[in-house]
Amino acid sequence: MKKLKVGLVGASGRMGREIAEVINASPACDVFYTLGRDKKVDHKLAEKVDVWIDFSSPEALPEVLKTASRHGTPVVCGTTGFSKKEKSLLEKASKEIPVLWASNMSMGVAVLNEALKVFSSIANFDYQIEEFHHIRKKDKPSGTAITLQENLEKAVSKKCPEPLAIRGGGIFGIHKVHAMSEEEVITFEHSALNRTVFAKGAVRAAEWLAKQKKPGLYQIRDVLFGK
Ligand SMILES: NC(=O)c1ccc[n+]([C@@H]2O[C@H](COP(=O)([O-])OP(=O)(O)OC[C@H]3O[C@@H](n4cnc5c(N)ncnc54)[C@H](OP(=O)(O)O)[C@@H]3O)[C@@H](O)[C@H]2O)c1
Repeated sequence: MKKLKVGLVGASGRMGREIAEVINASPACDVFYTLGRDKKVDHKLAEKVDVWIDFSSPEALPEVLKTASRHGTPVVCGTTGFSKKEKSLLEKASKEIPVLWASNMSMGVAVLNEALKVFSSIANFDYQIEEFHHIRKKDKPSGTAITLQENLEKAVSKKCPEPLAIRGGGIFGIHKVHAMSEEEVITFEHSALNRTVFAKGAVRAAEWLAKQKKPGLYQIRDVLFGK
C-alpha cells in the first residue's frame, strides 16, 4: 500500500512529537517532511507532500498556507489562538485547497459540539462554559472553549457569559458546559486523558482530508458525520 506522505509543521513541539508517534505506528502514512520555526521551505520536497498537519503557532500560518496552496496540498490545522485576520487566511486558502481547522481534534469534543444543539429546547436556562488546561498553555480561553461558546450561542440564540479559563498543573484539557435553571443543573463534560487523543484525531482527519477532491473549509465534525 502506498503510504500517505505527511508534512508536519511544529514537529518538535508537544503535539508535533505526539503526532509523529501516531504516524510512525500507522501502516497508512509516513512523516515525509517536517517544518519548524527556523527552517526554510524546500519546495522540491514540499510539492511531494500529500497532506500537511500543522500544530505550531499562529505566526506559522501564512507560510504554511502559501506552501500548501502553491502545490495544491490539503492542510489539517490544529493551531489555536488565531486572530480574525488569521482565520480569514484559512478561509481564503480554502477556496483553492481542502483546509480542515479544528480547535480540538478529538472525536469526543466533535460529538459534544453536536450535543449542544439540544440546548435549543431549554434556551431560557443560564449557561456557563468552564475549561481547565496545563499551566504552559499560551491561549486563554482555549480554542475549544471558544468553539463550544459559538455553538452554544447558536443553539440558544443568545449571548452567554465568557468561558471561565483555569490554568494549572499538567491537565490536557477539561471542558464543561453548564445549563442552569432555578430547579435543575445539567453539565456536559469532556476530559482529554492524554495528548494522543488530539494526535489520533489529527491523523484521522488528515487521512480523510487527503481523499477530499474539492477545495473547502472542512470541520472535524465532517470526518464523523460527513460534510
Ligand atoms: N486542535 C487540537 O486538538 C489541539 C490540541 C492541543 C494543542 N493544540 C494547539 O496546537 C498548537 C501547538 O501546541 P503545542 O503544545 O505542541 O505547542 P509547543 O510545544 O509550543 O510546540 C509548538 C511547535 O511549533 C513550532 N513553531 C512555533 N512557531 C513557528 C513558526 N513561526 N514556524 C514554524 N514552526 C513554529 C515550535 O518550534 P520551536 O520549538 O522552534 O519554537 C514547536 O515545534 C497550539 O496552538 C495549541 O493550542 C491544538
